[in-house]
Formats: sequence, structure tokens, C-alpha cells
Amino acid sequence: MIDPGGSRRPPWPPEPRRSPGLDPVAAPLRGRGPEAGILAESLDRVAAGQPAVVLIEGEAGIGKTRLLDSAVQDARARGMQVARGRAEELEQSRPFGLVAAVFGCERSSGDLRRAAIADLLAAPLGSGGTVTSDPGLRFRTVDAFADLAEALALAGPLVIGVDDLQWADPSSVLTLGAVARRMAGLPVALVGGLRSLPRGTDLDRLISLLETAGARRIQLAPLPDTAVRDLVADAVAAEPGPALLAGAAGAGGNPLFVTELIGALLQDGTVQVAGGRAEVAHATLPPTLRLTILRRLSFLPHPAVRALRAASILGSSFSLTDLATITGSSALELSVALDGAARAGVIEDDAPRLRFRHDLIRDAVYEDLPGGVRRGVGPEGGGGGGAGGAPGGGGGGRAASSACFSRWSSPRIRAWSFAVFASPRKR
Ligand SMILES: Nc1ncnc2c1ncn2[C@@H]1O[C@H](COP(=O)(O)OP(=O)(O)O)[C@@H](O)[C@H]1O
Ligand SMILES: [Mg+2]
Repeated sequence: MIDPGGSRRPPWPPEPRRSPGLDPVAAPLRGRGPEAGILAESLDRVAAGQPAVVLIEGEAGIGKTRLLDSAVQDARARGMQVARGRAEELEQSRPFGLVAAVFGCERSSGDLRRAAIADLLAAPLGSGGTVTSDPGLRFRTVDAFADLAEALALAGPLVIGVDDLQWADPSSVLTLGAVARRMAGLPVALVGGLRSLPRGTDLDRLISLLETAGARRIQLAPLPDTAVRDLVADAVAAEPGPALLAGAAGAGGNPLFVTELIGALLQDGTVQVAGGRAEVAHATLPPTLRLTILRRLSFLPHPAVRALRAASILGSSFSLTDLATITGSSALELSVALDGAARAGVIEDDAPRLRFRHDLIRDAVYEDLPGGVRRGVGPEGGGGGGAGGAPGGGGGGRAASSACFSRWSSPRIRAWSFAVFASPRKR
């Protein structure tokens, strides 16, 4: 979506009020100085009228989105135009879905160029096809996007941020290539975030093209110990003690895993803070991110968990209206139920929708629905939507993380997961 420059209203009544210790969004960026430096240099280039391309790569939860967001924030602070969007795992078959979101192309748009593109995207009346069924129309649409990007860049510096490129639909990948070819001599930065695997041939081709255009590639490594320490200190708002740090070390430098671990410990009251020091008596921490997420959810009230389970069927982002439709609850009831989940950092505002804070959180909830429910009501018919590289022992997609779950036999974790997923019967 093109940055409108105004502040966004939350989409549902209660204003989320997270405790500072559990607010991973508000916490400062830790341990990514060199990577942030590369992005700042790229924006300097754009400010000087030159193009720049940066690709941020790494496993799920390692901090790609966070880094991309910090570049976007920097661009806004410099007064640059920002076009920002993310590909959705469950929308890979929507032609031009990613680039239409990035450039805010809607039929209701007040901007004629964007509305015209939205018209191109609408299926030709009565044809039963899509914009990609007709190769001529497809290329006209690609050109129209490239023209739009060029016109924006001619008006002033532009930063295009595209996240989760591994899920981009083929037409959007083609379009980003066309945009990149038009960037020479223009003040445009293209900043992409993507998981290292899996990757289709279309995306490989785009990456080669971007490399030829001088793309800089940032491979995000696990956070160093000092940064993990800082991350823990931010979360507990105190100096972390050795046992707490030893527990956090089990997260292997993956910031999502670290924040989920500490969130779980804070939620169950295991962390004791005294005299500015935070410590745990004995850290009994789940060995995988997935189990940690399940443990975190077990502290939420039942209505919140039920709402999250239903939301997981809708995808990583969902609207209250759709959730109300599939649950039969009112939007108001759902908003109250989900308020606690927002405060705990499980979901967040992505106006006009809500979003799981991370795809892996959605995956953990979804994968624990009974198989029959997933097959019966899931938008991908139970087949799509894998975790794709979950860290902490659950890597390699849905099957691997399920296997990992059943391998770990602690009765306590079983009790947690039972508490989370046993829905009370209606009486
Ligand atoms: N360097 C960092 N410092 C502080 N928090 C971070 C850092 N990197 C990531 N996080 C937090 O960790 C979580 C996962 O990061 P995210 O960027 O969503 O991962 P990815 O996009 O690679 O899957 C988010 O809550 C994010 O705010
Ligand atoms: Mg991400």
C-alpha cells in the first residue's frame, strides 16, 4: 500500500494495551547494525537520485520483516514515498495480488492510474477468465505497473518494500522484474524480504535479474549473544540473570523464538524481578518454537483461543467480519475476546484487518486443529500453508514440525496443549 502519510486507526474497538515487556514491535532493533547500515546506504543513494536494490534473506522469525520495516521507517523519516506490501501464503494464485497491494491499486482509488490498473485486473466481463488468461492483457498490466512506479519515482524518491517474496504470485514477480528494468537513473529503492527456501524458478530468475542490476544481498544470521541479552533485557525490562539467559540461549539466536520464550515465562509468572534483576528459579523451557507458541497460547482465556483457532483457518491475516461469519459470534464479542491476544502480542493491527504477529504463530494454531477440521474448512483444503523452515527443531515445514511435536513427550507440554486445544462443549 502506498504510504498515505496519515496515522492509522485500529480496526476494532478496544485499543490494544500491551505491557511494555511483551511488546516486540515497540522494542528496539538489536544486533543488526551492519545490516541496517547497508539499508541506510541504499537510501542515501536514492536520496542522491540513484536506484538501489536490497534483498533481505533468512529463515522464518530471524528478523527480515523487522529490518525491512526499519528501512521503511527511515524512508518515511526522510520524506520519501513508500509503497509497501507483503505476499500472502494463501494468495499465491491471485494474479498481481502482491503488486496491487504494494501500489494500492483499487477500483475505488482516487488516483486514476491506480483505478485504471484495478480495472485491468478485474476479470474481463463474461469471459470467466482472469487477467492472466490473455497474454496481451497480462503484459499491458505489467507495463501499467512499471509506468506507475516510474511516474512515482519521477515525482520524488520512492522506496518499494516487498515482504515474503517467497510467496509472491508469478505475475507480481514478473512485474517486479519490469519495475527493476525501468529503475536505471531513477531515485527508487526496491527492498525485498524472502525466506531462503523454498523458492520457485520465477523468483530465482528475478533474483538473478536483480543481482545483475547490482542488488545487495543481506543474509540474516542468528543474533549474537550480546543482542539476545539485550532482547531479553528489553522484554523483561530488567537485567537478565544467568539462568534466564541460559534458557534464552536455547532459542539459537532466532528473535521470534527468543521473544516467544520470554513471553511465555512472563505470562506464567516464572520470571522474578527484584532489584532491577530478572531471573528464573529453573528454566523449564520447551525445546521448539512451536511448543513455545502453544505454551504461550495456553495462558489466554478460552474465548480468545477459540477465536484464534477459527482465525487460523482464514490465514495469517483476517477480517473481523469474516471471523464473525465463520464463528457465528458478533464482531463485538470477537473484538473483546481478541483484545487479550493483541495485548499478549499474538495478533496485531494490520488495518483494516488483523494479523497473527507471525506466520509461524498462525501455523502453530492451525496445525493443531483436528485434521478433519483442516481438510473440511481450510482454504487450502488441508494441503497448503506450511510453516516452511520453523527454527528450533521444527524446520522443514508442517510435517516436520508435527513430527517434532509428537517426539517430545513431556506430560507438562501435553497438559498445556490439551488446555489450549480442548474446546469446552456447548451445554
Ligand atoms: N534485531 C531485532 N531486534 C529486536 N527484535 C527483533 C529483531 N529481529 C526480529 N525481532 C522481532 O522478532 C520477531 C520476528 O521477526 P520478523 O521480522 O517477523 O521475522 P521474519 O520476517 O524473518 O520471519 C518480531 O516480533 C520482531 O519484532
Ligand atoms: Mg516476515
